[in-house]
Amino acid sequence: MMAMQLPRGTQDILPEDILVWKQIEKVSMETCEAYNFKEIRTPIFEHTEVFARGVGDTTDIVQKEMYTFKDRGDRSLTLRPEGTASVVRAFVEHKLYGSPAQPTKLFYTGPMFRYERPQAGRMRQFVQFGVEALGSASPQLDAEVMALLMDICRRLGLTHLKLVINSLGDTESRVAHREALMKHFEPELHTLCGDCQQRFEKNPLRILDCKKDHAHPLMATAPSVLDHLNEESSQYFAELKQTLDLLEIPYEVDANLVRGLDYYNHTAFELMSTAPGFGAITTLCGGGRYNGLVEQFGGPETPGIGFAFSIERLILALKTEGVALPTAQGLDAYVIALGKDAHMQAMKLLYDLRQAGVHADKDYLDKKMKAQFKAADRYHAKYAVILGEDELARSCAVVKHMQRGTQQEVALSELVPWLRQELEGEEHHE
Ligand code: HAM
Repeated sequence: MMAMQLPRGTQDILPEDILVWKQIEKVSMETCEAYNFKEIRTPIFEHTEVFARGVGDTTDIVQKEMYTFKDRGDRSLTLRPEGTASVVRAFVEHKLYGSPAQPTKLFYTGPMFRYERPQAGRMRQFVQFGVEALGSASPQLDAEVMALLMDICRRLGLTHLKLVINSLGDTESRVAHREALMKHFEPELHTLCGDCQQRFEKNPLRILDCKKDHAHPLMATAPSVLDHLNEESSQYFAELKQTLDLLEIPYEVDANLVRGLDYYNHTAFELMSTAPGFGAITTLCGGGRYNGLVEQFGGPETPGIGFAFSIERLILALKTEGVALPTAQGLDAYVIALGKDAHMQAMKLLYDLRQAGVHADKDYLDKKMKAQFKAADRYHAKYAVILGEDELARSCAVVKHMQRGTQQEVALSELVPWLRQELEGEEHHE
């Protein structure tokens, strides 16, 4: 029966788990709006080229993790493993660079797919929330994007966080660093894993990110990217740090932070959870600058920076930190009906209540009065509206305030406006 269960690395999100998802989405979107970022939605699959070239064909993502398939027209398509390549593709395709409103500040959320080994915080389908800001090479924009990230986390109630930053430099700096890396690894190349030997040829920076060789003695002594930054790149990094200082956003510089995607230059950053007891994977969010990526998609020279986190990992962080999670809202009213006629009348009443915006429900299992009251309690209903044969004969209902225990008779014709007014009064009291 395996085939009738969840595929490995995926999950169902049941109603009781949805609230925290909605909370994270809401807070993230509202914060983005405060920073003047606008939402963009792109397809869940793209031509494989978009990721192969966008993310980079020396990355683990492209080499080992993509869900790639042929459609019936024999095109190679891929379920998106991340959002940046798609957003850049859309930016070029719709010539968003032509808009007078620059930089173009976008955010997105949706499922991403990577064929990885599942563990806590690592799924094969996960939901990213990300932002991309295109069209400015100011280090102030890098700081803004980080400020936005920290603001989202603060609003969610996360406190055990560490922002780690690095600079990979511009092309000239990267070439210098690449040469130094090759010189460093070449004599002992045969002691590295097969993947790293291939990386050596194509992109030696990737070696520093190897999951197998991370404890190899050559790693600790590898030349630092920060020692190979040219004047301009150092200046850029210095200005970013100065801006973060001004905003009083704490950070650590880690010259070993290289990130797993090929498109980065200058700024790279990750946000880690430092909550005691957080699992093995502590990275909550990753991002960086990708000047040059827009040209790769056939657009004009346009710098860009962004980040993405997965909602799954933020939930782990919220739970590990013991942040109070949102709880279900109770019903406004539960209609208790006794007898067939009353149940009919209750249907009509419910429909009217709901149209008036009152959150309400009734029994459909022909339960006894006591059990219907229990249901009202279970749904945390503020009011029980009781329709018995007696009441029905007089075209009224007994309305009971569940917490206070007070009750009164209200004419059916008056019930909807009466209840709305009561509920409004309660809201003002809260
Ligand atoms: P990334 O580092 O590959 O970067 O992923 C960003 C975040 O997505 C991670 O920090 C983690 O929160 C989440 N994530 C990645 N893989 C998984 C997984 N298998 N299960 C659960 N969560 C996962 C990017 O994707 C870049 N597009 C970020 C970016 C945007 N850079 C510039 N702009």
